[in-house]
Amino acid sequence: MSPDGRRRRTAILISGRGSNLQALIDAAAAPDYPAEIVLVLSNRPDAKGLARAETAGIATRVIPHRDHPTRVDFEAALTAALAEAGAELVCLAGFMRVLTAAFVDRWQGRLVNIHPSLLPAFPGLDTHARALAAGVKLHGCTVHLVSADVDEGPIIGQAAVPVLPGDGEADLAARVLAAEHRLYPLCLRLLAEDRVRIEAGRAVIRGPVDSGGMIMNPDQKRPG
Ligand code: GRF
Repeated sequence: MSPDGRRRRTAILISGRGSNLQALIDAAAAPDYPAEIVLVLSNRPDAKGLARAETAGIATRVIPHRDHPTRVDFEAALTAALAEAGAELVCLAGFMRVLTAAFVDRWQGRLVNIHPSLLPAFPGLDTHARALAAGVKLHGCTVHLVSADVDEGPIIGQAAVPVLPGDGEADLAARVLAAEHRLYPLCLRLLAEDRVRIEAGRAVIRGPVDSGGMIMNPDQKRPG
């Protein structure tokens, strides 16, 4: 639970399928999970993830970026919706808009993203195809605090998966996605429990962590 025993009010920003959103919804269904999802916000009205939120009884908002002449106007609408929901933490989960430095600064230390590679390898798009082309033997996913530079920012956790002979992009994507669904709830838990500290630009995790047997860092075997 969070240090004050209250669940942190969390908004999830999506643009599409919402499978990571679903993993967070499922985790937050446990009464002792330290974050509560209070809002799911999409910039696309056709995002499949909106139906997942509705099924779970979570409030949704659609703020189409195309309705706003500038990025700043779009983000002002996001900020208003987040404030109205009383959001304390924000998770990007397949949210396909780049955020301005001003927005990121406002949420510094409280805004996280999941990226489908072991950063700093393969920032940007098409990570699985690029991992296959590079011939890496381990691939995976990263949850990090968001900084003004895309796919940078202090790393909270990473999970690794093997790249197997004969893998195609879809095989590798599915293996990484399964890891994402375990990593994201774990990392949001750490953030909501106030266990993530930034030291010299890096995230340091306090206390033991149960990674459930994955090749994942933070892991329970690390001294706390
Ligand atoms: C995930 O692979 C995530 O890492 C990336 O976008 C994808 C979103 O998938 N940022 P989903 O919408 O959560 O299913």
